[in-house]
Amino acid sequence: MTASLDAKQPARQGKARPIARVVKGQPASDGAGVKLNRVIGTGQLPDLDPFLMLDEFRSDDPAAYIAGFPDHPHRGFETVTYMLAGRMRHGDNKGNKGLLGPGSVQWMTAGRGIVHSEMPEQEQGLMWGFQLWINLPARDKMTAPRYQDIAADAIPQVAAGNGATVKVIAGSYDGMRGPVDPGRTEPLYLDVDLAADGSFSTPLPAAHAGFVYVYDGAVEIGPDGAGRTLSRGELGVLGEGEAVSARGAGGAGKFLLLAGRPLREPVVKYGPFVMNTPDEIRQAIMDFQAGRF
Ligand code: CO
Repeated sequence: MTASLDAKQPARQGKARPIARVVKGQPASDGAGVKLNRVIGTGQLPDLDPFLMLDEFRSDDPAAYIAGFPDHPHRGFETVTYMLAGRMRHGDNKGNKGLLGPGSVQWMTAGRGIVHSEMPEQEQGLMWGFQLWINLPARDKMTAPRYQDIAADAIPQVAAGNGATVKVIAGSYDGMRGPVDPGRTEPLYLDVDLAADGSFSTPLPAAHAGFVYVYDGAVEIGPDGAGRTLSRGELGVLGEGEAVSARGAGGAGKFLLLAGRPLREPVVKYGPFVMNTPDEIRQAIMDFQAGRF
């Protein structure tokens, strides 16, 4: 029976990954007192190789975001900011400037070092978005800093026809490539909007680690008949398999799907520096203090 079923489904995807673990974010404060929900980078989930941190900021109370993230350094990884609502002004010590608006993405490869600020460009209203940190492999940690500023209208949106609308930020979905030029971690970054009766699936290399983060409503993730419902604010770590499968869970839902190639290298974190050894962290601190970023 199985063989004939397979023969009729030449395009079938591999085994849908189950949810291996569910993690909720923890309230945190960063920058000059911005209130956020830290989902990766906590005691519960220190990292998810190659992802080092995921923060969601979402507030319509200016007191929770107005002080922003004044000048601070980064070395050794990439920061990816994705705005859903509100505007953030970016500037760095190399003279680069940019304004992040709703639906836009800034993919910053900090490499050997930058000093930048990320400040709200609004005094009221909703500020909502995500910052993800993606590790760089040892051989790329001291690469030249690079920005990819991606406007909202440069992000392809695929109406999958089964109640799913997919924004392709990085990697590809259904033959559509996202605008980000990916590094060696080959990240997939999708934003999926699923109707109550919708369904979504996409292949994912078995060797890549991944997670789903539900930021609105609820979604069922996993093999058909053996899925698990995740609600707003819940991150599901994907277990083993070759595909990701999602269905509506009695209502509409929106989620981020992130995946990438694990680096399996030592991670030594010290605030905004993420290197492979304590010596490299000491060097980063010295270089920053000496103004060498
Ligand atoms: Co920063």
